[in-house]
Amino acid sequence: MHRNRFVLALGALTLALAGCAPMTAQAPVAPLKDGELALPANYRGWAKYLSAVQRPDAKQVRDIYMNPTGASGTAAGFPNGTLFVMENYAAAANADGTLQQGADGKLVKGALLRVFVMGKNAGWGASAPESLKNGDWIYAAYLADGAKAPESTATCRACHLPLANEDFVHRYDEHFTGKSAGALQLERQLVALASPR
Ligand code: HEC
Repeated sequence: MHRNRFVLALGALTLALAGCAPMTAQAPVAPLKDGELALPANYRGWAKYLSAVQRPDAKQVRDIYMNPTGASGTAAGFPNGTLFVMENYAAAANADGTLQQGADGKLVKGALLRVFVMGKNAGWGASAPESLKNGDWIYAAYLADGAKAPESTATCRACHLPLANEDFVHRYDEHFTGKSAGALQLERQLVALASPR
């Protein structure tokens, strides 16, 4: 009888210790693939990666947010755990179809069309086709109401793929130098003009 109680107590102690183990070990990250990245509920409280990106070509204005892990990224790349959320707004148009401009000369935000998410973690995107692997980044797209958008994530991969030297992230220079895309383009043209042919 006493012996049984001792065995039970030992069993309970083992269970308790086993239960503690995951608290000290690093929690494993589920191996997600495209479309499985949830829309983070609190992203509007995050730091902006870039604000009011002007895309008259696409008739859109875009805001890009990054989570605190992403904000610790450097020009050498972003750490595992980075999440980017990009809001794509329609640029408000005049009756004749031309795009409206605010007092600051910038496009005016209309309806929110899409919310794009990209995130990076160890082993993520491992199931993506070899020719479309973007390191460990995965992609997801949502409508303004948070429902899944119909876009194929193969298109996301194809368009971010050429940016391997910038950790697959667009407008990298603009963020890290704080210069606008226009200023950077001008700078490159001047450098090209100045360099001997
Ligand atoms: C035709 C090219 C193209 C496609 C397709 C594309 N992107 Fe991008 N993406 C860009 C560009 C360019 C930017 C920088 C913002 C801008 O100029 O609009 C960007 C920026 C982003 C950002 C902000 C981080 C960064 O790289 O600057 C996220 C998040 C993102 N895209 C997710 C997606 C998702 C999700 C899809 C697919 C549903 C997708 N993108 C498809 C070109 C593309």
